[in-house]
Parts: sequence; C-alpha cells; structure tokens
Amino acid sequence: MKKKLYIETYGCQMNVADSEVVASVMAERNFEISEDHDQADVILVNTCSVRDNAEKRVWGRLRHLNALKKKNKSLKLGLIGCMAERIGDEMLEDKVVDIVAGPDAYRNLPYLYDKAVDGEDAINVELTVEETYDSIIPKRMNDSISGFVSITRGCNNFCTYCIVPYTRGRERSRDPKDILAEVRDMIQNGYKEVTLLGQNVDSYKWLPEGETKPVRFHHLLEIVAKEDPALRVRFSTPHPKDIKESVVKTIAKYPNICKHIHLPIQAGDDEVLKRMNRRYTVEWYKNRVEMIRKHIPDCSITTDVFCGFCGETEEQFQGTLDMMKWVHYDTAFMFKYSERPGTYAAKKLDDDISEELKGERLSRMIELQNRLSLERNNNDIDKVFEVLVEGTSKKSEDDFCGRSSQNKMVVFPKQDAKIGDYVRVKIARCTQTTLIGEMVEKIDKPTI
Ligand code: SAH
Ligand code: SF4
Ligand code: F3S
Repeated sequence: MKKKLYIETYGCQMNVADSEVVASVMAERNFEISEDHDQADVILVNTCSVRDNAEKRVWGRLRHLNALKKKNKSLKLGLIGCMAERIGDEMLEDKVVDIVAGPDAYRNLPYLYDKAVDGEDAINVELTVEETYDSIIPKRMNDSISGFVSITRGCNNFCTYCIVPYTRGRERSRDPKDILAEVRDMIQNGYKEVTLLGQNVDSYKWLPEGETKPVRFHHLLEIVAKEDPALRVRFSTPHPKDIKESVVKTIAKYPNICKHIHLPIQAGDDEVLKRMNRRYTVEWYKNRVEMIRKHIPDCSITTDVFCGFCGETEEQFQGTLDMMKWVHYDTAFMFKYSERPGTYAAKKLDDDISEELKGERLSRMIELQNRLSLERNNNDIDKVFEVLVEGTSKKSEDDFCGRSSQNKMVVFPKQDAKIGDYVRVKIARCTQTTLIGEMVEKIDKPTI
C-alpha cells in the first residue's frame, strides 16, 4: 500500500516549485500526496527564513503538527527548505522534528525517512554547487493552470540584509533542455501559464557542450515563448543591476510574454543601497525604468521595498517614498527590516531603528502605495485587457477572475468561457486591488 505524504509550503514561489520536486522524489518511492494531515505517514513543512516573523509562524505550526504524533505514533515530521538549512540541526536535536533536509538535499528524502523510521538522526543540510534537480519532472499538485519552473538556484549577490545566499547556497543555472522538458510537461497537462524562477534571473547562463556562446536569459525567454504561443510566460525576479535591454525587447516582441516586470528597489537612497550592497544607484534604477517604458509603454512595474534598515534616517526613508512616487508602482511588497543572524548586516551594522519607528514608516509606505495602486487602476478604466480565466471570483459565484498580462486581478460576470480560456475584458470600474469589467470576446491566445 502507498504511504501518504502531506506537504505544507511557506515562503517564496521557489519553495512552491521545490515542494513539487519533493512530491516527485517521494512518488518514486511509493508515497502519494494526501490533502489531510491526519491521514499522513509523513508531514513535510517547506519553510522560509527571510524575516523573523516568517520563522515564527512555522514554529507555531510545527508545535501543532508535532502534537499529531500523540494520536498517530508512526507519523514522521520533517523540516525542509530555508529554515532547515539555517536551524534544522538544533530542531532535530530538540526533537521538534524527525527529519531535516536543506534545499539541495531533496533527493535524499526517502532515505532520510527510512532513517527516521529506524529511529536514527535523519538530517542532510549540505549545500552543493551542482544540484539543480535535473531530470526530475516536478509533480504538479492540483489541477491548476499556472505553475513555476526554476531556472536558477541559489544566489551570489549577498545583499547585506539577506539570508538567502546562506540558505540556498551558490547560484547555478539549469540546462535549458531540462527547463523545456518541464515546460512541455506543463503544456501537456493543460497549463496556460509558466513563471520562470530565480533569485536573479538576469544572471542565467548556460554553455551547451561544444558551443562557445552561452544561452542567456533573453534567449531562454524566447525559447520558452516560442514553445507555445498560447502559454503565457512570466518570470521572477530580475535584479535592477543586471536587467538588460535585450530582455525587455524580448518581452516586447512576444505577445505571450507578460507585460509585467517585478523590479525590487529595496530603498530609494544611494547611501542605503550601498549599505545593502545592492550595487545600483537611484539614478541607475530610474534609467532602467525609463528603458522599460520606452520599449513597453503599457508594462506594469511592481517592486519589493523595505524600511528601517540599519542607520536609515528620516531623509533617506523619504527618498524611498519619493522613488515609489517617481516610478508610480502598480503594486509593491513592503516590509520592515528584520535582522537575520549570520548576514553581513547582523555582524557589522547596527539594527538601530526602533520597532516602533519601523512600524510607523511601514504604515506610511503602505498608505502611499495604496494611493498609487488606486491611481494606476483608475487609469485602466475603459481600456480592454486580455485576461486568462483562473476561476470563480472569491466574492461572487457569478463572476470569473483572472489576471491581465500586467498581472492585475480582473473580475467580470461569467459568460461563455471556462477556466484556462483567454478573454478580452473591458474595464468599467476598479478598487485598489482589482479591475472590474465586462467580457468582450474570447480569443485563442495572447495577442499584444
Ligand atoms: N531575490 C529577490 C528577493 C528575494 S527575498 C531579489 O533580490 O529581489 C524577497 C524580499 O524580501 C526581498 O526583495 C526584500 O525586499 C525582502 N527581504 C529580504 N531580506 C529581508 C530582511 N532581512 N528584512 C526585511 N525584508 C527582507
Ligand atoms: Fe537576497 Fe539579494 Fe540574493 Fe535577492 S539578490 S536573494 S535580496 S541576496
Ligand atoms: Fe524564504 Fe528561502 Fe524563499 S528564505 S523567500 S523560502 S529562498
């Protein structure tokens, strides 16, 4: 009989993609996915360490899951992902979990499970320079129409505040053949949208054997876009220091590459950016935005930004707000700085902004962005957007929801269309987060 595996995933899209790799590895060894943790033989929690509150959430959850062992004596609880890499050894020692596997050790999971069953320590947090999970076709977990494919793993940038290079190890690119195999598998399974993932997609580089010219990110985008004109292509995350005109031109050229660039700014002051080791200036970032708008006038631009980094003055914070206004972001993920043990900032810089001030600055950022998002959405009224139908609107059974190429949520009354169809929708009104309109017609594939 098959054993049952329950996976819970926290953190970024990379973790969502990795959980599918894990499901595939485990399926090879006679595990099937269960939607119910009460039925599981093994529970794996895929975790994030990027901010302290991300870890706190998982701690609470692990305590709860651990209690299930009282009822189910043979249940094994495993910690995987970034927290496993950062503090998995302590958690195993304290018997919070039975299995620990870092992001490069997932092939090892069936073996680690067997060890745990035998009552032995089951841990592998080794980071490698070569693991890219080649030839493992991820096991897609639901009948979604949109999925992720990793194109690089790890990160070499060492932004001073960031834990990712420590939990994910050195950057490596995946063979375009393996990437394409995954994309084809998705197409065959009815997927309509793929997001190519890397911590810095612009540094993607692969040298095929016997060739002298490497495959770069814009080549890869083109290869994937050409595979099927009815498959939408997105990507995350480009790095402002590295994003190239060739990439932007490729986006402009193919209707099925979405007109949305998520370009994390982090801060809007040169001194702060330098302390963060971001390796670009405000001027440079503005130049990149102008370059994007030149080639793709209707491109949406979104960002990650955080306040309260070490030594941030009121004036420097004001620089961030000014920059948010200058770019006029469509949306933004906004955070408070959270010191991560082991990073350069934790070792060398003073986390000197009080929690109270961080909170106050974050509120000001959010308030500003809410206004900017609403203004952007207001601008979309009366325009027509191509929308991929994702499902029924959460608020109303009678409405569909889906995203525009610009990645905005669009809601419209149900008509002759189904999930996975492309439709044109004319926008009549909006909220800060959603465009609301009427369907105009169905189309076969993206056209603009
Ligand atoms: N590789 C991506 C980001 C990955 S982490 C990039 O460079 O853009 C996602 C976001 O979390 C970051 O963009 C940053 O805004 C935020 N973040 C990372 N470390 C943080 C920390 N220590 N405190 C608060 N926010 C942080
Ligand atoms: Fe972290 Fe910087 Fe790498 Fe992004 S680029 S993952 S912020 S170190
Ligand atoms: Fe979190 Fe690791 Fe992703 S720290 S943001 S899960 S790479």
